[in-house]
Amino acid sequence: MDGIRNIVILTGAGISAESGIATFRGPGGLWEGHRVEDVCTPEALAADPVLVHRFYDLRRAALDTVRPNAAHEALARLDREWPGELLIVTQNVDDLHERAGARRMLHMHGELRSALCAACGERRAWSADLPPGTACDVCGAAALRPDIVFFGEMPYQMERIEAALARADLFVSIGTSGAVYPAAGFVRGAQAYGAATLELNLERSEGSAWFDATRLGPAGRLVPAWVAEVLGS
Ligand code: OAD
Repeated sequence: MDGIRNIVILTGAGISAESGIATFRGPGGLWEGHRVEDVCTPEALAADPVLVHRFYDLRRAALDTVRPNAAHEALARLDREWPGELLIVTQNVDDLHERAGARRMLHMHGELRSALCAACGERRAWSADLPPGTACDVCGAAALRPDIVFFGEMPYQMERIEAALARADLFVSIGTSGAVYPAAGFVRGAQAYGAATLELNLERSEGSAWFDATRLGPAGRLVPAWVAEVLGS
């Protein structure tokens, strides 16, 4: 890994698949059983808050039944041992990266174990069910909602992500279909700033042709092997 100091990693649902969390697209995916427009848009939340809150309550509760897998563990090891800059940007709303011990990371699409006040914007840790009409501790409005970035809303911490991409020597995408922007565009952004790019995925993603290199296989096998390579062990 000569000349590599700053690394940005983008993860998607594929990294949590071997932990037992369903991905979104493809057979058995979450979007097969639910229409995105019914549970993942501001319009859906306004039209049927009970359905939308229930959808995320079930997914939040399911977190108690899953554990980080070898891919999360490997990225946590990289975070502990990599001497250069590192930022793990996850599109996932589960908490498996942090439960594995990763610290230099952010959730660009929100978090299941967080609640967002639609009135004042306050975010707070939340692990129980979240019925519509729950009051915000800060402003008092009965407006807490799942802290999920719905389609049509701005992902979190885009400035921090852009800054990290601009400084990256290596951009690695793991377990994401490349179907959702702006995350799907990070590979081209990183490349424009001169970073090398690598994709680790079960199958070629939609943006696969943009990557300098692609390795195909399950994240639980590919990611520990890649991390060992990077750390030289
Ligand atoms: P997708 O479900 O679109 O894609 C998951 C990717 O992971 C696919 O390319 C699979 O081939 C791959 N995959 C599956 N199992 C794998 C494994 N064991 N190892 C490695 N790769 C595997 O999920 P995302 O790309 O994360 O947004 O979806 C992006 C966004 O779309 C999500 O964050 C979500 C969704 O709508 C919001 O909820 C806002």
